[in-house]
Amino acid sequence: MEASETMSSTTKTFDSAMRDGGVLITGASSGIGEAVALECTRRGAKTLFLCGRDEGRLAAVAEACRAAGADCVKADKVDVTDTAAVDRWMRECDATCPLAVVFANAGRGTGKESTENVRATFDLNVGGVVNTVLPAIEIFRAHGPDNFAQIVITASIAGYAPLPACPSYAATKACVKSWGLSLREFLRPEKIRVNVVCPGFVRSRLTDRNTCPMPMFMEAPHAARVIVARVRRDVGLIAFPWPMRLAVWFLSMLPWRLAAAIGRSLPEKNADNSQGITL
Ligand SMILES: NC(=O)c1ccc[n+]([C@@H]2O[C@H](COP(=O)([O-])OP(=O)(O)OC[C@H]3O[C@@H](n4cnc5c(N)ncnc54)[C@H](OP(=O)(O)O)[C@@H]3O)[C@@H](O)[C@H]2O)c1
Repeated sequence: MEASETMSSTTKTFDSAMRDGGVLITGASSGIGEAVALECTRRGAKTLFLCGRDEGRLAAVAEACRAAGADCVKADKVDVTDTAAVDRWMRECDATCPLAVVFANAGRGTGKESTENVRATFDLNVGGVVNTVLPAIEIFRAHGPDNFAQIVITASIAGYAPLPACPSYAATKACVKSWGLSLREFLRPEKIRVNVVCPGFVRSRLTDRNTCPMPMFMEAPHAARVIVARVRRDVGLIAFPWPMRLAVWFLSMLPWRLAAAIGRSLPEKNADNSQGITL
């Protein structure tokens, strides 16, 4: 438990919603999504809906959640860039057990900034989030304001400032960070909570490709403990570790030319000079 955790009405409501309602996580077949699924289970979630595209890895995560105490784990192959498929899947999940918490987590790094990769990054990191969040809002609205509703969007520390080392990745994360924080206030009157998660470097299949230095590198279970604890307390912007948050905030406050000069000087490129960093 985080030192600052308390049993306020906010956290009590979250605990009972996790226990009684459905917890849906996109990109749950590995990395942060997998760790969040296990952390939610550890905290008492009984019904989990998981998606990704790799059925083998998804099945393994589902099995681990069952072994950790979840009663119902539905793990489905769903491509979140397919608008109709995500909508259909989320409504099926909601019919199985009314959704309480939705994690729009699936994402990718760009790798080489080729036309194809840049488009794929926007399609998944922005399009996939939009495809998950819009049905979530509709479903929660249909439940009515007396039912618990929380949407958690995974952005990144990379979303704080333009980063020359990963232009499209940083842009997609800035987009969903901004959208999520705006939605948080926009949906507040309807009692739909929205949180934006901005992790630093976390071990996953995504960062396994990085050859650059990754300061304050975290294991995924550690990141998941931070994320779920703060989602529980309904922290709007969940950015960690704090020294990286401070550094990127400072970068974002600088005059653009100075920030760009610092960005250019960072040793981010991979050895073959063709892949940007991902965080
Ligand atoms: N690791 C970090 O340092 C870090 C830092 C900040 C933010 N993030 C963000 O955290 C999120 C999770 O990334 P990760 O680091 O945990 O990497 P990861 O291990 O590669 O996980 C990415 C997840 O997204 C899923 N996914 C990819 N394309 C998909 C698609 N089209 N439809 C459905 N699911 C799809 C993957 O499943 P399949 O392969 O089975 O499709 C996988 O479960 C991403 O949004 C990433 O940008 C990561």
